[in-house]
Amino acid sequence: MRKSILNMLRNNANEYLSGEEISRQLSVSRTAIWKHMQTLKQAGYEIEAHPRQGYRLRSVPDRLLPDEIRDQLKTTMLGQHEIYYFDDIDSTNNEAKKQANLGCHEGAIVLSEAQNRGRGRIARSWFSPSGKGIWLSIILKPPFLPSDAPKCTLLAAVAVTKAIRTITKVQCGIKWPNDILYKGKKIVGILTEMNAEMDAINYIVIGMGINVNIDKDEFPEELREIATSLSQASGQPIARLTLLQAILAELETEYNKVIQHGFSQMLDEWRQLSVTLGQTIDALGGSRQFSGVAIDIDQDGTLLVQTEEKIERIIAGDISIRPKV
Ligand code: BTN
Repeated sequence: MRKSILNMLRNNANEYLSGEEISRQLSVSRTAIWKHMQTLKQAGYEIEAHPRQGYRLRSVPDRLLPDEIRDQLKTTMLGQHEIYYFDDIDSTNNEAKKQANLGCHEGAIVLSEAQNRGRGRIARSWFSPSGKGIWLSIILKPPFLPSDAPKCTLLAAVAVTKAIRTITKVQCGIKWPNDILYKGKKIVGILTEMNAEMDAINYIVIGMGINVNIDKDEFPEELREIATSLSQASGQPIARLTLLQAILAELETEYNKVIQHGFSQMLDEWRQLSVTLGQTIDALGGSRQFSGVAIDIDQDGTLLVQTEEKIERIIAGDISIRPKV
Protein backbone atom coordinates (compact mmCIF):
# COMPACT_ATOMS: atom_id res chain seq x y z
CA MET A 1 0.00 0.00 0.00
CA ARG A 2 2.76 2.41 1.00
CA LYS A 3 4.44 1.68 -2.34
CA SER A 4 1.24 2.54 -4.25
CA ILE A 5 0.85 5.79 -2.30
CA LEU A 6 4.46 6.68 -3.04
CA ASN A 7 3.99 5.93 -6.72
CA MET A 8 0.96 8.21 -6.87
CA LEU A 9 2.87 11.00 -5.12
CA ARG A 10 5.84 10.53 -7.45
CA ASN A 11 3.67 10.65 -10.54
CA ASN A 12 2.24 13.97 -9.34
CA ALA A 13 5.53 15.34 -8.03
CA ASN A 14 4.72 19.02 -8.50
CA GLU A 15 1.05 18.95 -7.66
CA TYR A 16 -1.07 18.32 -4.62
CA LEU A 17 -2.99 15.08 -4.57
CA SER A 18 -6.12 15.09 -2.43
CA GLY A 19 -6.56 12.50 0.30
CA GLU A 20 -9.95 11.79 -1.24
CA GLU A 21 -8.43 11.01 -4.65
CA ILE A 22 -5.80 8.70 -3.14
CA SER A 23 -8.35 6.89 -1.00
CA ARG A 24 -10.70 6.48 -3.99
CA GLN A 25 -7.99 5.12 -6.30
CA LEU A 26 -6.56 2.73 -3.72
CA SER A 27 -9.87 1.89 -2.03
CA VAL A 28 -8.72 2.64 1.52
CA SER A 29 -9.96 5.08 4.13
CA ARG A 30 -8.53 8.59 4.43
CA THR A 31 -7.43 7.75 7.98
CA ALA A 32 -5.40 4.84 6.63
CA ILE A 33 -3.83 7.16 4.05
CA TRP A 34 -2.95 9.64 6.80
CA LYS A 35 -1.24 6.87 8.82
CA HIS A 36 0.80 5.76 5.81
CA MET A 37 1.87 9.38 5.25
CA GLN A 38 3.14 9.55 8.85
CA THR A 39 5.16 6.36 8.34
CA LEU A 40 6.67 7.73 5.13
CA LYS A 41 7.59 10.97 6.88
CA GLN A 42 9.27 8.98 9.65
CA ALA A 43 11.29 7.16 6.99
CA GLY A 44 12.56 10.55 5.80
CA TYR A 45 10.19 11.40 2.93
CA GLU A 46 9.34 15.10 2.99
CA ILE A 47 5.62 15.27 2.35
CA GLU A 48 3.72 18.54 2.44
CA ALA A 49 0.17 18.25 3.75
CA HIS A 50 -2.25 21.04 2.89
CA PRO A 51 -5.66 21.06 4.64
CA ARG A 52 -7.68 21.66 1.45
CA GLN A 53 -5.37 20.62 -1.39
CA GLY A 54 -3.96 17.37 -0.04
CA TYR A 55 -0.45 15.88 -0.16
CA ARG A 56 2.64 16.71 -2.19
CA LEU A 57 6.02 14.92 -2.26
CA ARG A 58 8.82 17.43 -1.76
CA SER A 59 11.84 15.16 -1.46
CA VAL A 60 12.86 11.59 -0.93
CA PRO A 61 15.37 10.69 1.80
CA ASP A 62 19.07 10.32 0.99
CA ARG A 63 18.89 6.66 1.84
CA LEU A 64 19.26 3.59 -0.31
CA LEU A 65 15.75 2.33 0.45
CA PRO A 66 14.66 -0.81 -1.43
CA ASP A 67 11.52 0.82 -2.89
CA GLU A 68 13.58 3.76 -4.16
CA ILE A 69 16.17 1.42 -5.69
CA ARG A 70 13.52 -0.63 -7.50
CA ASP A 71 11.84 2.47 -8.90
CA GLN A 72 13.62 3.17 -12.23
CA LEU A 73 15.95 0.15 -11.85
CA LYS A 74 16.81 -1.06 -15.35
CA THR A 75 17.71 -4.68 -14.61
CA THR A 76 15.90 -7.97 -14.90
CA MET A 77 17.83 -9.84 -12.22
CA LEU A 78 20.11 -7.70 -10.03
CA GLY A 79 18.11 -6.07 -7.25
CA GLN A 80 14.85 -7.48 -8.61
CA HIS A 81 14.55 -10.16 -5.94
CA GLU A 82 15.59 -9.72 -2.34
CA ILE A 83 17.08 -6.41 -1.24
CA TYR A 84 18.33 -6.73 2.35
CA TYR A 85 18.67 -3.21 3.71
CA PHE A 86 20.17 -2.15 7.06
CA ASP A 87 20.94 1.05 8.90
CA ASP A 88 24.03 -0.52 10.41
CA ILE A 89 25.55 -3.98 10.15
CA ASP A 90 28.89 -5.67 10.77
CA SER A 91 29.62 -6.38 7.10
CA THR A 92 27.29 -6.67 4.10
CA ASN A 93 29.47 -9.54 2.82
CA ASN A 94 28.84 -11.50 6.05
CA GLU A 95 25.11 -10.95 5.68
CA ALA A 96 25.19 -11.85 1.98
CA LYS A 97 26.90 -15.17 2.75
CA LYS A 98 24.29 -15.84 5.45
CA GLN A 99 21.44 -15.17 3.00
CA ALA A 100 23.09 -17.18 0.23
CA ASN A 101 23.43 -20.14 2.63
CA LEU A 102 19.72 -19.79 3.42
CA GLY A 103 18.98 -20.06 -0.30
CA CYS A 104 18.26 -16.53 -1.56
CA HIS A 105 17.88 -15.90 -5.30
CA GLU A 106 20.73 -15.06 -7.62
CA GLY A 107 20.84 -11.27 -7.93
CA ALA A 108 19.84 -10.62 -4.31
CA ILE A 109 21.68 -7.65 -2.82
CA VAL A 110 22.64 -6.50 0.67
CA LEU A 111 23.10 -2.84 1.50
CA SER A 112 23.77 -0.96 4.68
CA GLU A 113 24.01 2.75 5.38
CA ALA A 114 26.96 1.97 7.68
CA GLN A 115 29.18 -1.01 8.49
CA ASN A 116 30.85 -1.43 11.87
CA ARG A 117 33.16 -4.28 10.77
CA GLY A 118 33.53 -3.58 7.05
CA ARG A 119 36.18 -5.94 5.65
CA GLY A 120 38.76 -5.39 2.94
CA ARG A 121 41.15 -7.76 1.22
CA ILE A 122 44.08 -9.27 3.09
CA ALA A 123 42.28 -8.94 6.46
CA ARG A 124 42.16 -5.16 6.25
CA SER A 125 39.23 -3.18 7.63
CA TRP A 126 37.05 -0.96 5.42
CA PHE A 127 35.98 2.51 6.57
CA SER A 128 32.18 2.65 6.06
CA PRO A 129 30.61 5.80 7.58
CA SER A 130 26.83 6.16 7.64
CA GLY A 131 25.09 7.51 4.51
CA LYS A 132 28.36 8.50 2.86
CA GLY A 133 29.06 5.60 0.57
CA ILE A 134 27.62 2.56 -1.12
CA TRP A 135 28.39 -0.50 0.99
CA LEU A 136 26.97 -3.26 -1.16
CA SER A 137 27.17 -7.02 -1.58
CA ILE A 138 25.75 -8.87 -4.57
CA ILE A 139 25.01 -12.59 -4.68
CA LEU A 140 25.67 -14.35 -7.99
CA LYS A 141 25.43 -18.02 -8.88
CA PRO A 142 27.48 -18.13 -12.08
CA PRO A 143 27.66 -21.23 -14.26
CA PHE A 144 31.49 -21.00 -14.37
CA LEU A 145 34.19 -23.20 -12.92
CA PRO A 146 35.57 -22.08 -9.54
CA SER A 147 38.85 -21.27 -11.31
CA ASP A 148 37.02 -18.53 -13.24
CA ALA A 149 35.80 -16.79 -10.07
CA PRO A 150 38.67 -14.26 -9.87
CA LYS A 151 37.52 -12.92 -13.23
CA CYS A 152 34.15 -12.03 -11.63
CA THR A 153 36.09 -9.47 -9.61
CA LEU A 154 37.60 -8.03 -12.77
CA LEU A 155 34.11 -7.96 -14.29
CA ALA A 156 32.78 -6.07 -11.26
CA ALA A 157 35.64 -3.57 -11.50
CA VAL A 158 34.86 -2.95 -15.18
CA ALA A 159 31.14 -2.45 -14.50
CA VAL A 160 31.66 -0.08 -11.56
CA THR A 161 34.26 1.98 -13.41
CA LYS A 162 31.98 2.37 -16.42
CA ALA A 163 29.00 3.35 -14.24
CA ILE A 164 31.05 5.88 -12.26
CA ARG A 165 32.44 7.45 -15.42
CA THR A 166 28.96 7.74 -16.95
CA ILE A 167 27.16 9.11 -13.91
CA THR A 168 29.82 11.31 -12.30
CA LYS A 169 32.24 12.00 -15.20
CA VAL A 170 35.08 11.16 -12.79
CA GLN A 171 37.77 9.52 -14.95
CA CYS A 172 38.75 6.79 -12.52
CA GLY A 173 40.65 3.66 -13.58
CA ILE A 174 41.34 0.13 -12.38
CA LYS A 175 44.44 -0.90 -10.47
CA TRP A 176 45.05 -4.64 -10.77
CA PRO A 177 43.25 -6.65 -9.73
CA ASN A 178 40.26 -4.68 -8.56
CA ASP A 179 40.88 -1.34 -6.88
CA ILE A 180 39.40 1.70 -8.53
CA LEU A 181 41.60 4.76 -8.24
CA TYR A 182 41.38 8.43 -9.04
CA LYS A 183 44.69 10.28 -9.33
CA GLY A 184 46.40 7.44 -7.46
CA LYS A 185 43.93 7.39 -4.56
CA LYS A 186 41.45 4.65 -3.85
CA ILE A 187 37.80 5.38 -4.49
CA VAL A 188 36.38 1.81 -4.64
CA GLY A 189 37.46 -1.52 -3.17
CA ILE A 190 36.05 -4.91 -4.16
CA LEU A 191 36.08 -8.05 -2.04
CA THR A 192 34.86 -11.23 -3.73
CA GLU A 193 34.16 -14.35 -1.70
CA MET A 194 33.14 -17.74 -2.98
CA ASN A 195 31.43 -20.92 -1.83
CA ALA A 196 32.13 -23.78 -4.24
CA GLU A 197 32.47 -27.51 -4.83
CA MET A 198 35.46 -28.87 -6.77
CA ASP A 199 33.73 -28.38 -10.12
CA ALA A 200 30.94 -25.84 -9.54
CA ILE A 201 30.36 -22.52 -7.83
CA ASN A 202 27.51 -22.53 -5.29
CA TYR A 203 27.59 -18.75 -5.03
CA ILE A 204 29.90 -15.82 -5.05
CA VAL A 205 29.48 -12.62 -3.10
CA ILE A 206 30.85 -9.49 -4.72
CA GLY A 207 31.32 -6.86 -2.03
CA MET A 208 31.87 -3.29 -3.13
CA GLY A 209 32.84 -0.32 -1.03
CA ILE A 210 32.33 2.93 -2.94
CA ASN A 211 33.43 6.16 -1.28
CA VAL A 212 30.75 8.54 -2.50
CA ASN A 213 30.27 11.67 -0.38
CA ILE A 214 33.14 11.58 2.12
CA ASP A 215 35.02 14.83 2.75
CA LYS A 216 38.78 14.67 3.12
CA ASP A 217 38.70 15.48 6.84
CA GLU A 218 36.05 12.82 7.47
CA PHE A 219 38.52 10.07 6.53
CA PRO A 220 40.70 8.77 9.38
CA GLU A 221 44.09 10.46 9.16
CA GLU A 222 45.91 7.32 8.01
CA LEU A 223 43.63 7.11 4.94
CA ARG A 224 43.67 10.75 3.84
CA GLU A 225 46.65 10.41 1.53
CA ILE A 226 45.65 7.06 0.03
CA ALA A 227 41.85 7.26 -0.27
CA THR A 228 39.42 9.73 -1.77
CA SER A 229 35.74 9.96 -2.67
CA LEU A 230 33.66 10.74 -5.74
CA SER A 231 32.45 14.03 -4.24
CA GLN A 232 36.06 15.12 -3.69
CA ALA A 233 37.02 14.08 -7.21
CA SER A 234 34.07 15.79 -8.89
CA GLY A 235 33.76 18.78 -6.58
CA GLN A 236 30.08 18.16 -5.92
CA PRO A 237 27.81 15.78 -3.99
CA ILE A 238 26.84 12.64 -5.89
CA ALA A 239 23.36 11.05 -5.84
CA ARG A 240 24.04 7.61 -4.37
CA LEU A 241 20.78 6.12 -5.60
CA THR A 242 21.35 7.01 -9.26
CA LEU A 243 24.89 5.67 -9.08
CA LEU A 244 23.79 2.44 -7.42
CA GLN A 245 21.11 1.85 -10.09
CA ALA A 246 23.68 2.46 -12.84
CA ILE A 247 26.15 0.04 -11.22
CA LEU A 248 23.55 -2.73 -10.99
CA ALA A 249 22.50 -2.20 -14.61
CA GLU A 250 26.09 -2.14 -15.88
CA LEU A 251 27.06 -5.20 -13.86
CA GLU A 252 24.09 -7.16 -15.17
CA THR A 253 24.95 -6.24 -18.77
CA GLU A 254 28.61 -7.29 -18.34
CA TYR A 255 27.63 -10.49 -16.53
CA ASN A 256 25.19 -11.51 -19.27
CA LYS A 257 27.81 -10.77 -21.94
CA VAL A 258 30.31 -13.02 -20.16
CA ILE A 259 27.78 -15.83 -19.76
CA GLN A 260 26.84 -15.65 -23.45
CA HIS A 261 30.20 -14.91 -25.09
CA GLY A 262 32.94 -15.70 -22.56
CA PHE A 263 35.43 -13.44 -20.82
CA SER A 264 37.54 -12.07 -23.67
CA GLN A 265 35.53 -8.90 -24.41
CA MET A 266 35.35 -8.05 -20.70
CA LEU A 267 39.13 -8.55 -20.37
CA ASP A 268 39.65 -6.12 -23.26
CA GLU A 269 37.47 -3.55 -21.50
CA TRP A 270 39.48 -4.13 -18.32
CA ARG A 271 42.70 -3.42 -20.28
CA GLN A 272 41.24 -0.17 -21.61
CA LEU A 273 40.13 0.99 -18.16
CA SER A 274 43.35 -0.06 -16.43
CA VAL A 275 45.73 2.38 -14.77
CA THR A 276 48.21 -0.45 -14.14
CA LEU A 277 49.28 -1.52 -17.62
CA GLY A 278 52.38 0.26 -18.86
CA GLN A 279 53.44 1.27 -15.33
CA THR A 280 56.37 0.17 -13.22
CA ILE A 281 55.04 -1.85 -10.32
CA ASP A 282 56.36 -3.55 -7.20
CA ALA A 283 54.93 -6.96 -6.37
CA LEU A 284 54.07 -7.05 -2.67
CA GLY A 285 53.49 -9.75 -0.15
CA GLY A 286 54.24 -12.83 -2.27
CA SER A 287 57.09 -15.25 -1.61
CA ARG A 288 59.31 -13.27 -4.02
CA GLN A 289 59.45 -9.49 -4.19
CA PHE A 290 60.27 -7.99 -7.57
CA SER A 291 59.66 -4.96 -9.75
CA GLY A 292 58.96 -4.53 -13.42
CA VAL A 293 56.62 -3.08 -15.99
CA ALA A 294 53.03 -4.41 -16.00
CA ILE A 295 52.55 -5.34 -19.66
CA ASP A 296 49.22 -7.19 -19.81
CA ILE A 297 46.75 -9.54 -18.18
CA ASP A 298 46.28 -12.99 -19.67
CA GLN A 299 43.00 -14.82 -20.29
CA ASP A 300 42.85 -15.86 -16.61
CA GLY A 301 43.28 -12.31 -15.33
CA THR A 302 46.87 -13.01 -14.24
CA LEU A 303 49.09 -9.91 -14.35
CA LEU A 304 52.15 -10.19 -16.59
CA VAL A 305 55.16 -8.19 -15.45
CA GLN A 306 58.28 -7.68 -17.54
CA THR A 307 61.30 -7.70 -15.22
CA GLU A 308 64.91 -7.32 -16.39
CA GLU A 309 65.25 -11.10 -16.71
CA LYS A 310 61.85 -12.47 -17.73
CA ILE A 311 58.08 -12.15 -17.70
CA GLU A 312 56.72 -12.79 -14.18
CA ARG A 313 53.12 -13.79 -13.56
CA ILE A 314 51.13 -12.53 -10.56
CA ILE A 315 48.05 -14.67 -10.00
CA ALA A 316 46.88 -13.14 -6.71
CA GLY A 317 48.12 -10.62 -4.20
CA ASP A 318 48.84 -6.96 -4.14
CA ILE A 319 51.00 -4.57 -6.13
CA SER A 320 52.00 -0.97 -5.74
CA ILE A 321 52.34 1.35 -8.72
CA ARG A 322 55.49 3.48 -8.72
CA PRO A 323 54.65 7.16 -9.11
CA LYS A 324 56.07 8.61 -12.35
CA VAL A 325 59.04 10.91 -11.78
C1 BTN B 1 39.48 -3.87 -0.52
O1 BTN B 1 39.81 -2.97 -1.27
O2 BTN B 1 40.29 -4.33 0.28
C2 BTN B 1 38.08 -4.42 -0.59
C3 BTN B 1 37.09 -3.58 0.17
C4 BTN B 1 35.67 -4.10 0.08
C5 BTN B 1 34.71 -3.33 0.96
C6 BTN B 1 33.29 -3.74 0.74
S1 BTN B 1 32.14 -2.67 1.54
C7 BTN B 1 30.84 -3.78 1.22
C8 BTN B 1 31.39 -5.17 1.44
N1 BTN B 1 31.29 -5.55 2.83
C9 BTN B 1 32.47 -5.71 3.41
O3 BTN B 1 32.67 -6.00 4.59
N2 BTN B 1 33.44 -5.46 2.51
C10 BTN B 1 32.90 -5.13 1.21
